[in-house]
Amino acid sequence: MSFRFVDLPAAHDDLRADVLAGLAAQPKSIPPKYFYDEAGCRLFEAICAQPEYALCRTERALMDAHLSEIAAAIGAVDCIIEPGAGDCVKVRALLDTVHPSQLVVLDIAGEPLAAAAGALALEYSGVAVSALGMDFIRSLEDATPYLMGGRRLVYYPGSSIGNFTPAEAAALLARFRKLAGEAGQLLIGFDLKKDPVELHRAYNDVAGVTAAFNLNLLARLNRELEADFDLGQFRHYAFYNPVAGRVEMHLISLTGQTVRVAGQRFHFALGESVHTENSWKFRGDEFSAIAASAGWQRVQTWERDGFAVQLYG
Ligand code: AVI
Repeated sequence: MSFRFVDLPAAHDDLRADVLAGLAAQPKSIPPKYFYDEAGCRLFEAICAQPEYALCRTERALMDAHLSEIAAAIGAVDCIIEPGAGDCVKVRALLDTVHPSQLVVLDIAGEPLAAAAGALALEYSGVAVSALGMDFIRSLEDATPYLMGGRRLVYYPGSSIGNFTPAEAAALLARFRKLAGEAGQLLIGFDLKKDPVELHRAYNDVAGVTAAFNLNLLARLNRELEADFDLGQFRHYAFYNPVAGRVEMHLISLTGQTVRVAGQRFHFALGESVHTENSWKFRGDEFSAIAASAGWQRVQTWERDGFAVQLYG
């Protein structure tokens, strides 16, 4: 077996600087990539099991149903790169059918990534597995020295691309293009525009798991930045904004309050929002236009129950 784990940490300093800048801005915001500490990763898995949040289940069902077709469309690939791979479960289907000689997985949460990728390496002894603990949004290019030559496929499932503004998404896809090279491909999954009531429910599950996921961000700041947020004084608030085409998640201050974060004080007025996430929803053609602006030509599309997987070359 061949496995290596490289941790490229910068995350703590970034967290501090990004949070202080976000809370000083008007309106206040915190980048969604900071949801994913250990508790946040567990809560996200729990979200995926909620009856209202079909995104993960639908993508899995789509991949299962069309896997051989998707693998045939991809053809021969030497290296699969998965940014934001997390528990490395989704890429297994491609390892089973595309048979690359190298897998490179990247994630901001290095330790859980290393555990998951190490287990993959044991199971797929013919695949050289590299796990890079890194914030790929900030420094994707740092992965280049770890890539072998040959034909590359960037795999970006889970509609994570929807958590960027369309301009940021285009910029990230252009960086994927560079990483993959001219002969490279991109297989990407994203949530489609659909009934807004269904979208509203998906981010307001009855069990309150999405609310806990959103509020966990404040708990993380309490732990990691010596903040003193009172979680009972903020409300999870999520809605679909049909003009922007995105679900917005906010934490709303239930009272006028001052909170200490990393030695600085921030005032929150009654009703003030901290904007924590956007989750864009696309039509297939809308997404292809964004990808085209980043140098990707659509090869094929698969759709199922409001979710799409597209292959680009
Ligand atoms: C990871 N990402 C695609 C999820 C989404 O739907 O935007 C994160 C999430 N936020 C709330 N629920 C799930």
